[in-house]
Amino acid sequence: MSDKKILFEIRDLCKSFKLSKKRTLKAVNNVSFDIYEGEKFGVVGESGCGKSTLGRVILQLYEASSGKVIYHGPAAERLNKSREEGIDLCSLSKREMREVRKDIQMIFQDPAASLDPRETVGDAISEALRLNTRLDAKARRETTENLLQTVGLKAEHYNSYPNSLSGGQKQRVGIARAIAVDPSFIVLDEAVSALDVSVKAQILKLLNQISENRDLTYFFITHDLGVAKHFCDRIMVLYLGNVCELAPAKELFKNRLHPYTESLLDAVPRLGLAGRNREREELEGEVPSPIDPPKGCPFHTRCKKCMEICKNEKPAYKEVSEGHFVACHLYDDMNNNKI
Ligand SMILES: Nc1ncnc2c1ncn2[C@@H]1O[C@H](COP(=O)(O)OP(=O)(O)OP(=O)(O)O)[C@@H](O)[C@H]1O
Ligand code: SF4
Ligand SMILES: [Mg+2]
Repeated sequence: MSDKKILFEIRDLCKSFKLSKKRTLKAVNNVSFDIYEGEKFGVVGESGCGKSTLGRVILQLYEASSGKVIYHGPAAERLNKSREEGIDLCSLSKREMREVRKDIQMIFQDPAASLDPRETVGDAISEALRLNTRLDAKARRETTENLLQTVGLKAEHYNSYPNSLSGGQKQRVGIARAIAVDPSFIVLDEAVSALDVSVKAQILKLLNQISENRDLTYFFITHDLGVAKHFCDRIMVLYLGNVCELAPAKELFKNRLHPYTESLLDAVPRLGLAGRNREREELEGEVPSPIDPPKGCPFHTRCKKCMEICKNEKPAYKEVSEGHFVACHLYDDMNNNKI
């Protein structure tokens, strides 16, 4: 991956929600990582670990509490910066951010919720083109019909209403609408989680084809490690809003380092790990509340390898071998590059 260009540099990003005068919930806690151009970047972790919040902060749908989201995509040039220099999305004005929106899109778990039941499929896609391009009505119609074809629907679907479509077809419309504006980056938040196994496979295949043909980068949020393993190039594991581990997908499944990743992977059978003669580390106990997170390592209350230091000192997040990052005191002595 080292020859890859960086599309996003996420640095020390935090997102807190103020619940009351005294209570603050840290949903994303000081995370730093890069996203490469053209990669399928996976984000996994238990419910509530901050996956969706992180995706939304990157897209600036939520305002970051602190940190940087430096974007090196085409919008940087449209805003008179070089792509190399990039632009920090957290510091843009609303007008500048509108310019960036064309580059960055989101696909949700429930496509029905993001489609207006009174609007035809064609109108939904065409509207995205009207808002973001200078195409006239005829060209919009033509482009929409092409997009329907690209996502495996028929031109006849132009006049269909969402409720006449299956779950898979609705998600195809969601994909067509997201790619209509020719984005560089799409956050997919559990985009295939609600679909049946066979439909899921078809949609993943479609997403793969689209990313190859269109120079797209995906930020793929999922709780399904099996899907992440097969679909993603790299995978980041989040726990209580913190990054535990980040590595190429194959490396993560072969050589997981963080005890949390270990329990997470062991909790899922049938992932090709059978035959590995290792003690299974079951994940026990409740996830602590992000309102009052544990001191030291966020995972220490559930970690079977917890040491004294873990209870007081938060482990640094560091690169322990090329492209393999981990935040755990077990690896404190390894050569590392902190980022
Ligand atoms: N708008 C909000 N206001 C207050 N708290 C929020 C808000 N959105 C998310 N949270 C809290 O932030 C934490 C992270 O939530 P988030 O939805 O990002 O997790 P997730 O990993 O996407 O979970 P899931 O797998 O269930 O979708 C949770 O504790 C959640 O309750
Ligand atoms: S730092 Fe300590 S508590 Fe945290 S995961 Fe590593 S060994 Fe477990
Ligand atoms: Mg979520």
